[in-house]
Amino acid sequence: KMIKLTVNGRKMTFRGAPFTRLIDALRTDFALTGTKEGCGEGECGACTVLVDGEPVNSCLIPVCQAEGRRIETVESLGAAKKLSTLQAGFLACGGAQCGFCTPGMLMTAHAHVKSGGKCDDRSVRTALSGNLCRCTGYQDIVKSVIKAAKGRKK
Ligand code: FES
Ligand code: FES
Repeated sequence: KMIKLTVNGRKMTFRGAPFTRLIDALRTDFALTGTKEGCGEGECGACTVLVDGEPVNSCLIPVCQAEGRRIETVESLGAAKKLSTLQAGFLACGGAQCGFCTPGMLMTAHAHVKSGGKCDDRSVRTALSGNLCRCTGYQDIVKSVIKAAKGRKK
């Protein structure tokens, strides 16, 4: 079966088992390896991508469920030479240490900021509560998001 979906603004076709996990379709079939797999069980948020603008654990949904939808991965944000405001915020504030949780954090934070979510400490912590980080103790991640949100042009 062919499954058509839009990934980072490009129309893509997945050919394979429809119950392939979305994370595997992205990483293996579409070579978008920015999305990371931590727990594989919906607990850690490392695999977060946006589906029609909403953060989703890509380890939990089959690619067939993404048919016709708009998927955004961390690759859509920016590149090494041209970081997005949010990525630059993480760099400036130490929001990424080992970096394993970072793609998921970025996508969840991106959805929060883009949807007009409040960017005070508490709101950002709540928005990111499904994304686990072993390294930073969260404070620097929250600071990164707040700094980026302040710097962002309306
Ligand atoms: Fe998907 Fe942990 S890898 S939530
Ligand atoms: Fe290492 Fe978050 S920076 S898990």
